[in-house]
Amino acid sequence: MQVGLKVWRFNSRTGERELQEFEVSAPEEATLLDCLDIVKDQHDGTLAYRKSCRMMICGSCGMRMDGAAVLACKTRMYDVAQAGHVPVISAMGNLPIVKDLVVDMDPFWEKFRSVNPYLQPGYDEPPDGKEHLIRQDRMNAVHKEALCINCGCCVSECNAMESDPLFLGPQALAKGMRFVGDPRDGQKIARLEKLNGEHGIWECTRCYFCNERCPKGVDPRDAIAKLGAESMKEGIDRDMGAKHAKWFVTSAKTTGWLRETELVPKTQGVVSAIKQTRFALDLAVKGKVPPPFPPHVAKDVKESRRLHDLVRDRGRSGFDGIVQGEHALAMLAHGKGVGDETLEEIYERPGAYHRPYIDGEEIPAGSEGGMGSLTQADVTPGKQPTRKPGGGA
Ligand code: SF4
Ligand code: SF4
Ligand code: FES
Repeated sequence: MQVGLKVWRFNSRTGERELQEFEVSAPEEATLLDCLDIVKDQHDGTLAYRKSCRMMICGSCGMRMDGAAVLACKTRMYDVAQAGHVPVISAMGNLPIVKDLVVDMDPFWEKFRSVNPYLQPGYDEPPDGKEHLIRQDRMNAVHKEALCINCGCCVSECNAMESDPLFLGPQALAKGMRFVGDPRDGQKIARLEKLNGEHGIWECTRCYFCNERCPKGVDPRDAIAKLGAESMKEGIDRDMGAKHAKWFVTSAKTTGWLRETELVPKTQGVVSAIKQTRFALDLAVKGKVPPPFPPHVAKDVKESRRLHDLVRDRGRSGFDGIVQGEHALAMLAHGKGVGDETLEEIYERPGAYHRPYIDGEEIPAGSEGGMGSLTQADVTPGKQPTRKPGGGA
């Protein structure tokens, strides 16, 4: 097949940029990386890009295709070529470009190192002095995070990093969760304290681009949500973001609505609220502020309260709650049309995954099902790999 590519070339010494077009003959199974190899072999040996494994495991070949981060060795070109489309290939975002498609990964590795990406002592030694045995369901809580190959595709697309380059970012935070959620690690609270600091978890704008672009199904935004939930469970809630989230829970429970007008006094305090009176009045004049009194109570507020009590009574706080929610959503993604079936009924289907376990519940043998991403294959160790809608390897 004939594949056309427009490649942004960049020379950091001269600052020159140029969009260069190539057309290559490639076999039908060729990936973007194969096509770049052909360009380098046969057209222009000066083209610079990174690669190593060619099988989606080393994380070297992150770049952008038509403005979205991809692993070049995972991106098949057949459909693109058949459509007659000529994609624009450029270097990843949020990292300085060294040459053409090669970025400087130093800031990335610096943040990676800052979360101490290794088990830290402080845990109980196994009583028999042998290895730590960990239940599969406990490891499922960090299974997705452990799949990260440090490619940087999530960082490339993170808009919080665009506004604050010091923000730890999705990859480092997902790695943080990998160890916060590991029962063998002895520094959970110290880790959470650090991740709640400036440039930490609460700076995320929840745009979900990192989930969308991660080629391995790590879902870094979900990891950040787990860190936030676990922080609040442990009473680490000094950040405005944590206060914000807590107020929304109270608001949803009491009225069934998110009462944003009370957000500032409830999270930033009365003094800050008074300082912003002028801004609030301007909004009110434009009809953007509903009258706070009497508070509007939703007709079905009892549903909202029941949900709140269910989460509380079943101990679904902290990252366990998020993991169970993830699991339920993944099960629904497998559900092929839910119709009138309840989630419990879906779990009872022959061969279905088991219902998420409830903290403290005895886990039936053989029911430690996987926890794959909504959009990627589920590759939980010991489980049959599955392919989900829109998913890949
Ligand atoms: S969800 Fe948060 S961490 Fe992920 S890309 Fe958006 S701002 Fe960045
Ligand atoms: S979280 Fe995903 S996108 Fe980000 S570095 Fe890891 S594998 Fe790459
Ligand atoms: S070359 Fe290793 S992930 Fe693409």
